[in-house]
Amino acid sequence: MSLIPYALTRPFLFGMDPEAAHDFTMNLMAKGQNTLVQQAWAQPLVKDPIELAGLKFPNRVGMAAGLDKNARCIDALAAMGFGFVEVGTVTPRPQPGNPKPRMFRIPERNALINRLGFNNEGLDAFLSNVKRSRARAQGAPMLLGLNIGKNATTPIEDATSDYLKALDGVYPHADYVTVNISSPNTKNLRALQSDEALDALLGAIAQRREQLATQHGRRVPVFVKIAPDLDEEQVGVIAATLQRHGMDGVIATNTTISREAVKGLQHAEETGGLSGAPVLEASNQVIRQLRAALGSRFPIIGVGGILSGADAVSKIRAGADVVQIYSGLIYRGSALVPEAARAIAQMR
Ligand SMILES: Cc1cc2nc3c(=O)[nH]c(=O)nc-3n(C[C@H](O)[C@H](O)[C@H](O)COP(=O)(O)O)c2cc1C
Repeated sequence: MSLIPYALTRPFLFGMDPEAAHDFTMNLMAKGQNTLVQQAWAQPLVKDPIELAGLKFPNRVGMAAGLDKNARCIDALAAMGFGFVEVGTVTPRPQPGNPKPRMFRIPERNALINRLGFNNEGLDAFLSNVKRSRARAQGAPMLLGLNIGKNATTPIEDATSDYLKALDGVYPHADYVTVNISSPNTKNLRALQSDEALDALLGAIAQRREQLATQHGRRVPVFVKIAPDLDEEQVGVIAATLQRHGMDGVIATNTTISREAVKGLQHAEETGGLSGAPVLEASNQVIRQLRAALGSRFPIIGVGGILSGADAVSKIRAGADVVQIYSGLIYRGSALVPEAARAIAQMR
């Protein structure tokens, strides 16, 4: 367990506006990482190694994308005991995101709604931060995923050029790259999950990845992150397209646009993506469908609604190889990381 119990920290953070609490915590972690302050959240890395997509994961619990959009806190997150940390989504150019307020808590359901809209400082700032990570330089076992997206002002017809620019930039610095086509907060982004658009995008990415592999002498795995709001047929088409283009894995899932589970609660009707406990079953359902469509060997990273060790185990049982957490960290604090990693390690 970390030095300060989250039961004490949470009321303080939940007394603040959600985005202000987020910024406060990220600033603290960015300043405190690699100093004595880091003891406040440092935890041992649960050892439960697994090889996936040619990568050696030290354990099966990762930080999901979106918490650290600018890659400022890689070392702080490494110290929390994550086996892998995904930072971003980064877009080629800096952008402010949507107007505030744009992040809401629904504590009755351990849920969040966000419509941040890829607020980030852009690729150059992101890469400078990635290069500054000491954990990386010192060869920490944690893996680093770099998650890429498109700028809001880039027309959807030109999305591929944004993804290729971002891929070129992040490629030499990533253990894996995630192509995010599933945020509900960038207009038309999720249309990239549909048959022809996905085929064209992944075709271009696969081709560029071959060039980059030759140029850098290293083949970096590419994962694609999808939404939970898909029916079985759409999941089947996506699965076939991923395999056809030699993608190395799929991350399932992003936030949901469904409000079924939070109806009538304060903030439930805010526009954006719902995350946390209400998305667990929908995500697990997509994972089950993906596993059935992809066969037993294709890497699946399961994310959505993990609030306990048992939730993490449910994702592995649904067919995920490894899992990621975001909202659970807000509701449960960093103790959830070793709890989930241990629960998975002890599975029979
Ligand atoms: C505030 C917030 C911002 C997010 N930003 C991103 C993002 O930039 N890129 C991305 O791929 N996913 C993003 N996500 C989605 C999470 O990575 C994750 O897929 C989703 O929240 C479901 O997991 P959870 O229930 O554990 O939060 C974001 C989620 C939240 C709550």
